[in-house]
Amino acid sequence: MGIFITFEGIDGCGKSTQVKLLDHALKEKKIETCVTMEPGGTEAGKIIRNILLGSEFSVDRYAQLFLFVADRAQHLEEVIRPALMSGKWVLCDRFVESTVAYQGYGLGLNKNFINLLHKEILGDTWPDLTFVLDCPVSVARLRLKTRRGETAELTSGKGDDPYETASLEFQERLRQGYLDLARKYPKRIALIDGSEDPKQVHLSIIKIIEKKKLWPSET
Ligand code: TYD
Repeated sequence: MGIFITFEGIDGCGKSTQVKLLDHALKEKKIETCVTMEPGGTEAGKIIRNILLGSEFSVDRYAQLFLFVADRAQHLEEVIRPALMSGKWVLCDRFVESTVAYQGYGLGLNKNFINLLHKEILGDTWPDLTFVLDCPVSVARLRLKTRRGETAELTSGKGDDPYETASLEFQERLRQGYLDLARKYPKRIALIDGSEDPKQVHLSIIKIIEKKKLWPSET
């Protein structure tokens, strides 16, 4: 069996960069990887992603929950489990904690119900390790603006991710939600300071992987 690692945090926390850096480090160690993301890690998932994040529909929060979970069920069956079975390391940009943070802490849906759904669809396929990249909302917003080449406030436009442009108060709830989850599940979830330089964040991630003996230490 391979190793299953997920990356979490508010939009602009630097997850995608860290997925790439870890993928690179694993390849240098001749470890086979499967880099993937949610929502949209399968063909069906891409359609679900368009419904959720496109500008065409306004999706009710319960419908959001079920669509994110549907995307995950498909992703697990089609991509994640087969990759783990073939011995690959699966690096997934967003997973269960995104739903608990965004639809639970953010939109106020029942977190016990969200957990119950996940127990059912995940079965034994829980991540071996989850990194929550924590950073102040102001830092994350600035990064998003820079990424978009904007100097103005982040405001919603056609086709924009509706969660990225949500209020500061919403983003703060997400951040606190992630911190709460990291406190609740300290064995699986590692909290990382995502406001540091990306190279430094990468080193912290490697240190944790070595400490957990997921790969042999070189020292
Ligand atoms: P994406 O463009 O993948 O953003 P990012 O690069 O920040 O991951 O968009 C995914 C958006 O969907 C993001 O704003 C978080 C949101 N989301 C949820 O609300 N619930 C979920 O379960 C998942 C997986 C994502």
